[in-house]
Formats: sequence, C-alpha cells, structure tokens
Amino acid sequence: MRQTRRDFLRHATLAACAAAIPRSAFAATPFEDVVAKVARQQLLPDTYPETEIWGYDGLVPAPEIRVAQGDRVRRRFRNEVPDPSSVHWHGIRIDNAMDGVSGLTQEPVAPGETFDYDFVVPDAGTYWYHAHNRSYEQVARGLRGALIVEEANGPDIDREEVIVLEDWLLDPESGQLFDNFEQPMMMSHGGRTGNFITTNGRYDLTLSAKRNERIRLRIINAASARIFPLTLSGLNGWRVAVDGMPIGQPQQIDGELILGPAQRVDLIVDVTEDEGGVAHLLRIGDDDQPTPLVSFPIDGTASSVPRGKPLPLPPNPAANAPDLADARDLRLVMSGGAMGRMQSALLGGERLGFRQLAQAGKFWALNDVADMTDTPLADLSLNEPVRLKIENQTVFPHAMHLHGMHFRELRPDGAFGPMRDTILLAGNESREIAFTADNPGKWLFHCHMLSHAASGMTTWIRVT
Ligand code: C2O
Ligand code: CU
Repeated sequence: MRQTRRDFLRHATLAACAAAIPRSAFAATPFEDVVAKVARQQLLPDTYPETEIWGYDGLVPAPEIRVAQGDRVRRRFRNEVPDPSSVHWHGIRIDNAMDGVSGLTQEPVAPGETFDYDFVVPDAGTYWYHAHNRSYEQVARGLRGALIVEEANGPDIDREEVIVLEDWLLDPESGQLFDNFEQPMMMSHGGRTGNFITTNGRYDLTLSAKRNERIRLRIINAASARIFPLTLSGLNGWRVAVDGMPIGQPQQIDGELILGPAQRVDLIVDVTEDEGGVAHLLRIGDDDQPTPLVSFPIDGTASSVPRGKPLPLPPNPAANAPDLADARDLRLVMSGGAMGRMQSALLGGERLGFRQLAQAGKFWALNDVADMTDTPLADLSLNEPVRLKIENQTVFPHAMHLHGMHFRELRPDGAFGPMRDTILLAGNESREIAFTADNPGKWLFHCHMLSHAASGMTTWIRVT
C-alpha cells in the first residue's frame, strides 16, 4: 500500500506526541492480574513429590515484573490463598497508599477479594515484591518474585540473568513445608531458615555461558531469614548496584559477598572459565564449603578478549547524599532474643517481663517496645534530614529495612555508604544511617528476618 504524505504526517505527529508524553501519563494502561494461589511445584529432585506452595500466579518464584524506569505498574491483586494478604513492592520509592502493608497502608485483602495497585517506578534497578501480611508465613510459602526496572541506557553487556534465592523448610519425608511458622525457638533465635535452597525455583539451576561473555547478574535474597555469603568461580565480577541503586564506581569482587535477607546486588561478570569447564555462583555454607547456586557450563567463546572494568550505571534521581547540617538525631536500640539481656518491654502499653513476652510470642523490642503501636518511632516533617543510630544489643544479626525511602550508611569516619533499603547488622553491632525524609506517609521500619518482624522487631515512622 502506498503511503500518502498525509498518512505520513499523521503518523509522524502521533509518534512525536508519544515521545513527548511519558508513558506513565496514559491512564489507560490496563491492569494485569496478579493472583496469589495455592499450587504444587517440583522443588526437590524428581524422586520426591511436588511441594505445595503459595505463589503469585501459582509459581515460585513469582512471574518477573519488568518495566522501564518512569513507567507505571498496574496490577489487580486477587487473593486466592486461604489467608488475608497484600503485596509490598520492596525498595520502590512509592506512593504510600500503594506500599501494600496490611494494617498500616491498607486493609489486608480477604480471600476472594481484589486490590488495585497502581504506581510509578522512579528508579531503575533490581527490586522485588512479596506478601506483607503475616509475611513470616506467606513469604516462606512462596509469595515472592522479582520486580525489575530497566534503565533507558543500560550497561554494555551480552545478557542478563535475574537470580532469585529462596529457602524452604521441608519435611524430607513428605517433601512438604513444615507448618511451624510461629515456632518460638526460631523466632527467638536467627529466624526461620530453610533446609533446602532454590535458585529461581530450582536446586540445580544451570545456565550455559560463553567464554569472555559479559553477564549482568541481578541477585535477590528472597529468603525469610537466611544470610547468603556468596562467591564466584570462573567469573570475574564487579558490583555495580546494591538494593537497586547504582553505587558509582564498580567494585571488583574478591572473596565473599554477603547478602542479607531482602538485600539485592547487581554484578557485572565476565566469564573467565575455559570452554568445556563450568563457572559458578556459589554460596559458602556453615561448614565453609562452597556449594553452587548457579552453574554456568561454558559452551563456546563470545569474544577473544575480556572487556575490562565496566562503566558505572547511570545514577537514579534523588541520589544526592543528605545534607546533615540540621539533621534530626534518632536512636534505635534493638534488644531481646535468646541469650539476650532484655528483662522486660512494653507490649500494647503494658510492661511485661521476658517470660510473659515470650508467652505472647514476643521476643524482641525496638526502643523498649515490642511490636508496632499507634505512636511512630519518629514524626518527621517532609524533607527533614535524619540521622539514625541503630544499636543492635542482641547477639543475632538483623537486616533492618525502611519502606518508601532509601538511606545511606554514615560511616564512623563521616563518609556516606551507598544508597540502600536494607542494612545488615551483625550481633552486638551499631551502625548509623542517614536519609532525607522526602516521601510523605506512614513507613514501616522492621527487621527482614520475618519471624523477628512478627515477634517484636517492627516499628514505623511518619512523614508529613
Ligand atoms: Cu520486604 Cu516490610 O518488607
Ligand atoms: Cu532480626
């Protein structure tokens, strides 16, 4: 068909309009469904039965959501699991009403009901989504998946792989999840860690690669409580982003990389293994033995030479370090747990001894208070700069996560760390974080060892 000049002009105008209006402005983007379902999946080797899981669209990990920076995510959440639920979009600097926290930003969605999530993603990076009602159970059953926001101008790579790390506490006889989600021993110790680890839902994930190929690995620790010490073999890697946010100059990996619960890391790796060999992403076990999380058998050669140090990722908006001249000083003391010194704490306005707290299923306190109350940890005014000293007075590590805003660690020498949304503290360790309270709303601040969050380690801040 001959294209007339008039047709051409009409199309040209349309194209120009489409380019001028950000895609997020189109209100007509349809809602896609995301359905929490009970399903069965082969997690264990084939000689075992399938495992009953709860998965978004019946899958673990959940289907990846992938959008361009600045786009709008529209999902109609339908709850088909037998427990009220909601969806949290971890690490997205989001409109508070869309944050998905049952009991704080929305009512939990009853079985059979729906909730419409509709938000813009301001930052490129590696994020994830997961259940946020009784998450110590719902996340552990499988309600978790990747949310990837692409840069307009991404790095020079041959390909990328999203790596979702999960663990499962399975009965080796039946292959089914133990349903001891509220077991006091786990709550009061390191949290409910699994006895079986999967990568993208598989125990033996194998992805073929080529020598001198450059791969971006987006690694997500979606486990309920497990800390993953990671290492590479046959791969030369650089860290380029943490918790979604670019870190500036890429840092070469030598040795171990620690990923706490809910944390993410983006690596750019060059395959150095020879053809016929196998490169690995490994985890270091408790016995110090490395075991593969991903195996990359080398099949062919991508180029004759490696490319050298990668360029930094483009920075996200609001990446400036906070100006702390008039910052509000806050302090958060974390106490409790087994072998701890906590004698008592406030629960629902009442002072209870450690025994009574334990009977109520509470083992931890933040600033002497177990569980969230109607009073926030802090009432901040919009754009107020904050420094927050976190003192872990327990013998366990904790991964503290702030919703709605990224922070930076303020190191003892006064230097800022990279932007993060989850910070891992070792037992009895103190760290200071700083941020500008630039997102209005009610934001949860809690330990991402999810059984700790449920047994006392949850608070919130209000920004108005
Ligand atoms: Cu990953 Cu309160 O959440
Ligand atoms: Cu914790």
